[in-house]
Amino acid sequence: MENCKLNCKTHIQSCLVSCFFCVSFLSYLADVDECDKDATVCGPNANCTNSIGSYICTCFPGFRLNNPGVIASVSNPCTDIDECSETPGICGRQTVCTNVPGTFYCSCPDGFYPSTGIVWTLGVSFCKSLQEILDEIKPPEGQTKERAFLGNMNQQLKDNTGIILPEPTVANSFSASMEVSGVGPRARSIRVSSEGDGETGSVILGISDRLVSAMVQPGQNQTKRTVKSPTVDLSLETIGPGSNNAESSSLSAKGNIMEINLESLAKNNNGSAAAAFMTLNGMESLLSHQYFETENRTEMYSDVITAVLPSMNNTNLTEPVNFTIHHKKTLTESGLVTCVYWEDKTEETGMGDGSEKGGEKTKTMRWSVEGCWVAFTNENYTVCSCSHLSTFALIMQIGEPPPEDPFLEWLNRICVIVGLFFFGLAILTFLLCSWNPKINNTARLHLCLSLSLSHLLLLWNDKYVEEELACTVMAGLLHFLVVASFVWMLLEALQLYLLVRRLSKVQVIQRDGLPRPLLYLIGYGVPFVIVGTSALVYSDGYGATEADVCWLSRQRNFNWALTGPVIAVLGLNWILFCATLWSLRPTLANMKSDVSQSKDTRLIVFKIVAQFVILGCTWILGLYQTNLFFQVLFIILNSQQGTFLFIVHCVLNKEVREEYVKWLTCSFNKHREGGSVKDAPSVSEDMDKAEERTG
Ligand SMILES: *[C@@H]1O[C@H](CO)[C@@H](O)[C@H](O)[C@H]1NC(C)=O
Ligand SMILES: *[C@@H]1O[C@H](CO)[C@@H](O)[C@H](O)[C@H]1NC(C)=O
Ligand SMILES: *[C@@H]1O[C@H](CO)[C@@H](O)[C@H](O)[C@H]1NC(C)=O
Ligand SMILES: *[C@@H]1O[C@H](CO)[C@@H](O)[C@H](O)[C@H]1NC(C)=O
Ligand SMILES: *[C@@H]1O[C@H](CO)[C@@H](O)[C@H](O)[C@H]1NC(C)=O
Ligand SMILES: *[C@@H]1O[C@H](CO)[C@@H](O)[C@H](O)[C@H]1NC(C)=O
Ligand SMILES: *[C@@H]1O[C@H](CO)[C@@H](O)[C@H](O)[C@H]1NC(C)=O
Ligand SMILES: *[C@@H]1O[C@H](CO)[C@@H](O)[C@H](O)[C@H]1NC(C)=O
Repeated sequence: MENCKLNCKTHIQSCLVSCFFCVSFLSYLADVDECDKDATVCGPNANCTNSIGSYICTCFPGFRLNNPGVIASVSNPCTDIDECSETPGICGRQTVCTNVPGTFYCSCPDGFYPSTGIVWTLGVSFCKSLQEILDEIKPPEGQTKERAFLGNMNQQLKDNTGIILPEPTVANSFSASMEVSGVGPRARSIRVSSEGDGETGSVILGISDRLVSAMVQPGQNQTKRTVKSPTVDLSLETIGPGSNNAESSSLSAKGNIMEINLESLAKNNNGSAAAAFMTLNGMESLLSHQYFETENRTEMYSDVITAVLPSMNNTNLTEPVNFTIHHKKTLTESGLVTCVYWEDKTEETGMGDGSEKGGEKTKTMRWSVEGCWVAFTNENYTVCSCSHLSTFALIMQIGEPPPEDPFLEWLNRICVIVGLFFFGLAILTFLLCSWNPKINNTARLHLCLSLSLSHLLLLWNDKYVEEELACTVMAGLLHFLVVASFVWMLLEALQLYLLVRRLSKVQVIQRDGLPRPLLYLIGYGVPFVIVGTSALVYSDGYGATEADVCWLSRQRNFNWALTGPVIAVLGLNWILFCATLWSLRPTLANMKSDVSQSKDTRLIVFKIVAQFVILGCTWILGLYQTNLFFQVLFIILNSQQGTFLFIVHCVLNKEVREEYVKWLTCSFNKHREGGSVKDAPSVSEDMDKAEERTG
């Protein structure tokens, strides 16, 4: 019985033990994995770890709980720590701190660059001025500091594939690249020649590729991002597996648009694809239109735009990409817009490791038309379709003007030089005669000065087309001189008219005509106001034109800034001319009565008509240079303005002739001492005569 009891006891004991294990096992089996059951149990940004009967939530690095006493959940989620505002100066002085979910980035403001280059090491890196960095660079033999800087940046990007860069760092790197290359909005002085600098441009394009790739995280889902700074305007779009995409995506940069079928690209790249589209300010100075080989004259007509497919293995396009590119200027009908892409076959080799061979690189660097065509164009924009991606631009081809006739050019040069010679003689004469109170030459002298200077400038005009500032100044100066010549011409006609009227009314008033200060004020003040106003209203109107000269642009009817005043002056001149003739009417009517007097009067009329025709009407001829006859006539008449003025005002002027004779016979001084100078000052000898007659 006792035995039985004991047996029973152990039995119950073991039974209980097994029951305990049984229950534990069952309860273990029954334990719910909260983490698996509800993935959002910890809320966002937290890792969930299951334990028996419970679970632990751990915030991701860079996140923390607002209320640390309570376990993370949707209502008490882990939130991002804003390191930048919580720890001011975490990056160091003069830095830009960018907080992103989970972490933060340090970058430099424009004009500075991290001391450790692209990769920022916390506590080590600091921002240095670009100049300081350039000064410290010891470039390899035969390389400039600027190129060594770009080479270092490129190499660092190559050595750190997979690095993720935040937008401010990308923007800063672009800005630094452009600034050291001497282009872009921050460049202090443009160091690039007008031929451009394709090598530097290509290096920067290589850097751009890597920088854009560094913005794309692997396995990134659907995103759209932009980088906007004075230097760069970039937009980036990525799609991942499972994202819902429209058939084609459109990206924009500085008003230009790229349409690309990312979906079909993603199909060839395991479901994900990325495309970036950007413009870099100043790139057109590096990749200049001079790299486009054609017999035609060319002009860059758009921003240089760059399309990149970052971090993708198969970049074969299944359908063409379309670029809607804005024209920088309104299209003129005479030109041919061409879509071009930057072809640089050796871009990848050489840079950064010092093994580049400059000579070989230049051979393959050019703007090419292969695989790109104009799909649509109007005056404001052009749509280019391209079967590949690269760097693109629009180049305007302006049909070469008919090759300059060597005969005409030769004739023009000779004529202008002869004309200038007589201008010189006339000016010299007027200056030497200016002491003579009988001869008031102010208007004539300044007419000659303005005209001869404008002829002189026209001789060199086409040499400055490439230099923007010089060309603008040249065009402005020419505009000023031409308007001034016309105003002085008007003043001369006005003086003549006043005199003739005065004579016919037999009045003795101030004989000098208009006072000199007033003449100067009008003669140079009016053109100054016209040019100043024009420059203020539309300063880009001055510069190189399609005809390859520095002159007024035809855009926005800017040439009316000259045509308007000229027409006004010619009209006023015509009125004055008629009025002068009217005043001379009595003398003309008496023509037969006094032979010598009528001869003089006819001389006056001849001079007025001739001056009006030669100075005023040659410009009209200039508009009709259609055939050789008119061209030759224009060249001769226009260039001989000086000769003409010399003949009319010096050779045909008795007073001046007398002066010449005096100088030639060296009796000049003696004569003057004799004091036999007539005391009747007048506008000209002719007028003296008229005065003697009428008075
Ligand atoms: C979550 O925790 C697991 C295991 O501890 C770890 O492997 C994983 O990296 C964690 N995830 C994050 C985002 O911290
Ligand atoms: C990407 O996002 C879509 C929704 O926008 C989602 O359905 C898909 O699962 C995501 N894919 C990945 C890999 O995260
Ligand atoms: C570009 O235009 C062509 C013809 O105009 C069209 O066939 C093509 O689908 C367009 N590409 C995209 C990406 O929209
Ligand atoms: C796509 O993924 C498959 C396996 O899933 C792999 O074999 C193939 O190489 C991948 N293709 C690319 C372009 O990465
Ligand atoms: C590209 O191909 C390489 C191997 O050749 C592979 O490791 C990489 O994941 C691929 N990248 C993409 C985006 O498919
Ligand atoms: C891309 O296209 C070229 C020819 O157009 C072809 O030779 C090449 O194999 C293609 N690449 C891939 C990854 O399909
Ligand atoms: C071009 O732009 C101007 C001004 O923005 C506009 O007035 C004109 O209608 C545009 N022309 C076309 C064909 O879109
Ligand atoms: C030069 O321009 C004319 C029209 O302006 C065009 O017809 C011709 O094809 C151009 N030449 C080249 C080589 O593109």
